[in-house]
Amino acid sequence: MSGRNILIIGGSGGIGSGFVAQLLPREDTRLLFATYRPSSYPPNLSPLLQQFPEKFNLLPVDVTREEDIEKAVLQIKTKVDKLHLVINCVGILHEGDLQPEKSLKHINPKNLMRYFEVNTIPTVLWAKHLLPLFKHPERTVFAILSAKVGSIEDNRLGGWYGYRASKAALNMLIKNIAIEYNRVAANTIVVALHPGTTNTRLSAPFQHSVPPEKLFSVEEATRKLLSIIEQLTTSSNGHFYSWDGSIIPW
Ligand SMILES: NC(=O)c1ccc[n+]([C@@H]2O[C@H](COP(=O)([O-])OP(=O)(O)OC[C@H]3O[C@@H](n4cnc5c(N)ncnc54)[C@H](OP(=O)(O)O)[C@@H]3O)[C@@H](O)[C@H]2O)c1
Repeated sequence: MSGRNILIIGGSGGIGSGFVAQLLPREDTRLLFATYRPSSYPPNLSPLLQQFPEKFNLLPVDVTREEDIEKAVLQIKTKVDKLHLVINCVGILHEGDLQPEKSLKHINPKNLMRYFEVNTIPTVLWAKHLLPLFKHPERTVFAILSAKVGSIEDNRLGGWYGYRASKAALNMLIKNIAIEYNRVAANTIVVALHPGTTNTRLSAPFQHSVPPEKLFSVEEATRKLLSIIEQLTTSSNGHFYSWDGSIIPW
């Protein structure tokens, strides 16, 4: 059967659900898997599940638990032997009492660990467990949502220690995965993506200083990112792309 098999990690989130909404109705989407956090079943995805029962699959995954990731990959393998597009949309900037640090006086080791636990480590776990599904001769993209503030070279304002550092470390893991995948799953293009400031729960408390024309709707952000994803070639492997297609320095 032709068409693409797709996995959206964090399909219940702002940007993740935007990808699901755009990709699911497409005729070239054969099967679409989306993960959600087991503690909160996503009501926003239920209408799509009813509309596309044959091609939409929801998988519960807390990305901080490797066993959840392993179990989800096993479930995917019962339905398909290859994936063509995987987008990791999971990330935190604030979570309950955890708020981005304005200065050194806000540094708290537990919060730093939490940023790395959610924003950094899961991507390399997914890369480890998904590899067999990427070993096929068709063009494949593994895209991970990073953030421009994770660019060390671009850092002019400081602050947001944990979020910035977790995304900078994520970027290093992405580059490493791209290098190893080039040897072992050479048709898989691995990239980091910056969506631009997008109107979601994550950015909501920080939107006051963003001019309206620079605040994207989820629909706009996901449309721009999908257009970049469609244009990627093997020479794009291991790069960090902004929403406008430009390359961000690591
Ligand atoms: N929005 C922006 O302006 C912006 C800018 C630059 C980069 N980004 C990046 O884009 C990505 C998506 O952000 P967003 O704006 O869509 O944020 P969002 O609406 O808050 O979505 C975040 C997603 O991460 C999931 N998540 C958090 N912790 C999890 C865990 N332990 N296990 C499983 N899932 C977990 C959330 O699940 P629940 O729904 O269950 O909470 C949700 O699906 C993030 O990596 C973010 O850093 C966003």
